[in-house]
Amino acid sequence: MPEEDAIRWNERYRSKTGWETKPPLRFLTENIAILPKNGLALDIAMGAGRNAGVLLNHGLRVIGIDISFEAVLLAKRQYPHLSAMVADLAHPQIPPLQYDVIINFYFLQRELLNNLSHFTKPGGYVMIETLTQKIRAIRPQTPEAYLLGENELPQYFNENWRIVKYQEGWVQDEGGKQKAIASIIAKYQPKGRKNDTKKRA
Ligand SMILES: C[S@@+](CC[C@H](N)C(=O)[O-])C[C@H]1O[C@@H](n2cnc3c(N)ncnc32)[C@H](O)[C@@H]1O
Repeated sequence: MPEEDAIRWNERYRSKTGWETKPPLRFLTENIAILPKNGLALDIAMGAGRNAGVLLNHGLRVIGIDISFEAVLLAKRQYPHLSAMVADLAHPQIPPLQYDVIINFYFLQRELLNNLSHFTKPGGYVMIETLTQKIRAIRPQTPEAYLLGENELPQYFNENWRIVKYQEGWVQDEGGKQKAIASIIAKYQPKGRKNDTKKRA
């Protein structure tokens, strides 16, 4: 399956044009002031770099990971200072560092969400936005496994996190299309080292 995903996404990045001018996610640009201006950031399933570029311009060093080498090439071409790697995140292979900022947009991997505290520096931020099951009302073919359940996202953040922002519902995307999403910004403020993740099935 991951190999098929790599082929499918490579084909998409190769055959479509305009990746360089695709606007970054509004949730990121509208909330960029919340994030620190220096330190290390991780972009999970980065794509062609539209959001990694915002973090670089904000002052952060950025590591971006994606299964598609075509996406990584596009991102590196536009942002030579970006550290980028091709990896399959179905079996999380995140460079074992502690990040000041982690962004994860439109790629749902629940094991990663369960382990965010291992990768986030105390005082660091996680920003996530992805589709919810409600999208099936207009896109019934979207596999359920890729979609968040109702009020699922905040449950990955236990008492060691402060939820800075949370929204769930229908919004218009950057291209004017309706989408059903959940978005969160959480700050890691660990009270202790034991049991600092809330596991979900
Ligand atoms: C909907 S795109 C989102 C890209 C980017 N986060 C953005 O908001 O522009 C999903 C991305 O996930 C990547 N992807 C899909 N399966 C993956 C996997 N198993 N491991 C890593 N990346 C994957 C795809 O190549 C694609 O770039």
